[in-house]
Amino acid sequence: MDPTQWAAVDSYLATALIPTDEALAATLHANTAAGLPAIDVSPLQGRFLHVLVKIQGARRILEIGALGGYSTICMARALPADGRLTSLELDPRHVDVARRNIARAGLDGKVTVIQGAASESLARLQAEGGTPFDFIFIDADKPSTSIYFKAALSLSKAGTVIVVDNVVRRGTVVDTETTDENVRGMRRFLDAISGEARVEASAVQTVGIKGHDGFVLARVVS
Ligand code: SAH
Ligand code: DHB
Ligand code: MG
Repeated sequence: MDPTQWAAVDSYLATALIPTDEALAATLHANTAAGLPAIDVSPLQGRFLHVLVKIQGARRILEIGALGGYSTICMARALPADGRLTSLELDPRHVDVARRNIARAGLDGKVTVIQGAASESLARLQAEGGTPFDFIFIDADKPSTSIYFKAALSLSKAGTVIVVDNVVRRGTVVDTETTDENVRGMRRFLDAISGEARVEASAVQTVGIKGHDGFVLARVVS
């Protein structure tokens, strides 16, 4: 267990695997300048999302939690010409920064950032009864993850991929006695998904520049 080594390997792999991307670099720069917390997915994780979206051939993506749009841009870049991404973000400041970053990346024609509490935006999307999403990335306030997961399911169809960030939290997810509301939220989510017959799922633990964390990867069966 050597976090310094994890970070060095992360940087090495990122340099080897990810082409230089001015828009992503500018996004991180703008986020820092605006005082946003540096809790975006890492470059390798963003590239992982990008590759997953491509593998799946997703045309409609839903993101819950945009921050400055770093993960948004990673996923939206993987869409075909007629693909669309909707991202839900509570903080108007984050929405502002995200929209500017997305426009700079030339993706404002494909991406809509909806400002507001995700639970309300999700209820509106459910009421509209539009085309189900192909790919859903859940990465907002952790205590609400199980609620977002249930809403995501209702906006899915057979074959939809659901990815949930931050399910490991430096390993604290195994602490049954935890009082950390973020960790408790993830445990509630894992309870919910383990009893959910509509999905088949796995998890990937990650180490790197963000320490020890992980994703749940789920596929909607029916
Ligand atoms: N997906 C982003 C990081 C998201 S950080 C990336 O990887 O680049 C989590 C975001 O969720 C923050 O911007 C925070 O403002 C937002 N958030 C917190 N509570 C929320 C809520 N109730 N509804 C929507 N977004 C929320
Ligand atoms: C943190 C990391 C995340 O990926 C996130 O979505 C929220 C918080 C963190 O490290 O605190
Ligand atoms: Mg996250």
